[in-house]
Amino acid sequence: MQYTLTEIKEQIFILTINRPDKLNALNKATIEEIAMAIAIANKDNQVKGIIITGSGEKAFIAGADISEFSQFGYEQGKALSAYGQSVFNTIEQSKKPVLALVNGFALGGGCELAMACHLRIASSNAKFGQPEANLGIIPGYSGTQRLVQLVGKTKALELMMTCDTINAQQALDLGMVNYVVESSDLMNTGMKMMQKITSKAPVAIAQIIKCVNDYFDYSKDGSNSEVEGFGTCIITEDFKEGTTAFLEKRKANFIGA
Ligand code: COA
Repeated sequence: MQYTLTEIKEQIFILTINRPDKLNALNKATIEEIAMAIAIANKDNQVKGIIITGSGEKAFIAGADISEFSQFGYEQGKALSAYGQSVFNTIEQSKKPVLALVNGFALGGGCELAMACHLRIASSNAKFGQPEANLGIIPGYSGTQRLVQLVGKTKALELMMTCDTINAQQALDLGMVNYVVESSDLMNTGMKMMQKITSKAPVAIAQIIKCVNDYFDYSKDGSNSEVEGFGTCIITEDFKEGTTAFLEKRKANFIGA
């Protein structure tokens, strides 16, 4: 891995985008490394959840690497967008919960990556925006879709068309992030949130992710997915354990099956 760092801490896989001199801008190689890291984290039984953050204190990710695609033509542009979309979809569809710790600029592809994660905590100095129209393009890694999902059509159109950057508090007010904390508390708060989530039944967490994703997938019926997901969970050992533990007034010991 050339542009990313990975470590596993307390069963949480921490992926850090590591190009601080370029404000962690996403070149193609970095996106490929992200794809690899997410696949590895999802296969590793020791890993219960995934955190994605950026190196340094200034940026989460300042966007797709502008220098790389400035000369692209029609087919190359479409291929870049389709590739980014597919990688970010694997984040959204990860069975293990994915949390973005947004530690500074989350612009363009950086905002899109944060939005592909299931949850987002921002540091108080974070800045969000989709400034692609400044460059004459549009968000290409599903930002046009996910921003609408997160903040609604009115504000999504405004943000994309004005290219305005918003601060962490505004992002919180719009429902783009779950919490805003001081930079020094970001990792600690993220780890605590992940420990709480990963102490729940893994099959149930995976099914919640799937059902919520299906709600936004118009080719699927989200309510039907919920029925299927409920059925999937109810026949697991963890469901028996969870209900038994509740009735016995003790903490459940989930095994992930
Ligand atoms: N792609 C490629 N390089 C980028 C980048 C991007 N999206 N964002 C920042 N960088 C590079 C800069 O070119 C600069 O490199 P250099 O030192 O080799 O010249 C370095 O990162 C530092 O950025 P700089 O612009 O000097 O920092 P700043 O504090 O003055 O400004 C930003 C910070 C985030 C406001 C500014 O970098 C910016 O507007 N970036 C582009 C944001 C964007 O449009 N993203 C969407 C892309 S589709």
